[in-house]
Amino acid sequence: MVDVTSLLACPRCDKQLALQENGHYFCGACKVEFPTQSGMPWLFAEPAATLGEWRGRLHFALQQLTDELAGLERELQRNDLQPLTEQRVVRYKAALEEHRRALIALLQPLDLQALGGRVESYLALRTRLPVDQGLNTYYANIHRDWAWGEAENTASLQQIRSVLGDHSELGNMLVLGAGAGRLAYDIHTQLDCATTIVMDFNPLLMLVAKGVTSGETLELYEFPIAPKDPGDDAVLRKLKAPAPADENFHLLLGDALRPPFLARSFDTVVTPWLIDIINDDLPALAARINNLLSADGRWLNFGSLAFAGPERARRFSTDETRAIVASSGFAEPRVHEETIPYMCSPASRHGRQETVFSFAAAKTADVKKPERYRALPEWLVTGKEPVPQSPSFRTQAMTTQVYAFIMSLIDGKRSIRDMATVLEAKRLMSKEEAEPAIRSFLTKMHDDAERQARF
Ligand SMILES: C[S@@+](CC[C@H](N)C(=O)[O-])C[C@H]1O[C@@H](n2cnc3c(N)ncnc32)[C@H](O)[C@@H]1O
Repeated sequence: MVDVTSLLACPRCDKQLALQENGHYFCGACKVEFPTQSGMPWLFAEPAATLGEWRGRLHFALQQLTDELAGLERELQRNDLQPLTEQRVVRYKAALEEHRRALIALLQPLDLQALGGRVESYLALRTRLPVDQGLNTYYANIHRDWAWGEAENTASLQQIRSVLGDHSELGNMLVLGAGAGRLAYDIHTQLDCATTIVMDFNPLLMLVAKGVTSGETLELYEFPIAPKDPGDDAVLRKLKAPAPADENFHLLLGDALRPPFLARSFDTVVTPWLIDIINDDLPALAARINNLLSADGRWLNFGSLAFAGPERARRFSTDETRAIVASSGFAEPRVHEETIPYMCSPASRHGRQETVFSFAAAKTADVKKPERYRALPEWLVTGKEPVPQSPSFRTQAMTTQVYAFIMSLIDGKRSIRDMATVLEAKRLMSKEEAEPAIRSFLTKMHDDAERQARF
């Protein structure tokens, strides 16, 4: 059995971590303690600040639920609802209330620690969490993984099997971006693994993974996008693993862009549905993975190839992906492509087919370790360099001025026409142009105010 501590490194300086008597990890060089929460080490470069960020996202999610509940209450006050509609809304509201309580209970570990992150060092380390990753971003995965998804989970494991070839021993395995953990669990329990380390940066997913793989049965509502039958808009699911995972299955929280592991620690690194959504350029990610693998280690990938970054050049095709892998210290990858069902919940009319791209790539050489990932540019971090006048900033500055001016004209008396007259008098626009422009701006403001935050 491998001692997990022997694999772990400080995400700030890459030196080995020490396990303290209190169960937390400590970096002697950086003098930073990395807490263990609910049995999972919290190995972010700036642990307190990251905890604060996730805590903020929890509060945001709870606030959204509170707003939605208030909206439902208002809908129920109307006296034009048909009896069936009223029953449905009453039931949905009760489910949402229960869901809110369940989230608070499940995520209690996030609230346990005082919010005391040092924002400055967090910025200096440029380890900010991506803004598009909410607590609920991959909430649907939980139910597929541990409630209704047997066929999809079996198909996922099959993709891994299909690229393994004769060489099926996985040794010490790291699963990056493991989500709610089902594929990691299936690989660990059904294939030939020694020690498995399962990592994601989302605490909701990891707390679910921890609970079910420890043998608990959790209950959480599923909220299908397109409910199939009456009552399918909120379905209480029992989440359960086939059996508890053994003592060689370990979960931890960390950022794959700053993997908290010593170099060459793993025989296998698995990236399920990760390479196209992570905020890292594929060549840099490939080099990071190379660095984590032992001399004859192997990278296993599975999932979509749907790069969606702002730069076209970074939206790699299958051939480019193969070439990048092969030029990052790996042999030509063994590839398997197959179309499989994705998120086809029995309670939803909505589901996808996805042609997944899986590969196994054997490491052939060490490559240069890429620079630490930087989430933010220098001028934002240090505050000492000039803020660049980018074309986008310039446009935003101008539009913000116009918007601010229009907002300043709202006094509870002026109409849209009156405002258009002022804009014309100020020579900003002709009255004919100004009226529709003000209307469309105020429509957006109105829509934003009316929009119900949905869970
Ligand atoms: C598309 S989901 C796939 C989840 C899971 N592998 C599966 O197959 O269901 C991507 C996962 O990667 C995680 N993730 C994204 N960026 C990450 C990062 N920088 N570090 C750790 N996890 C990350 C997300 O939280 C999410 O769970």
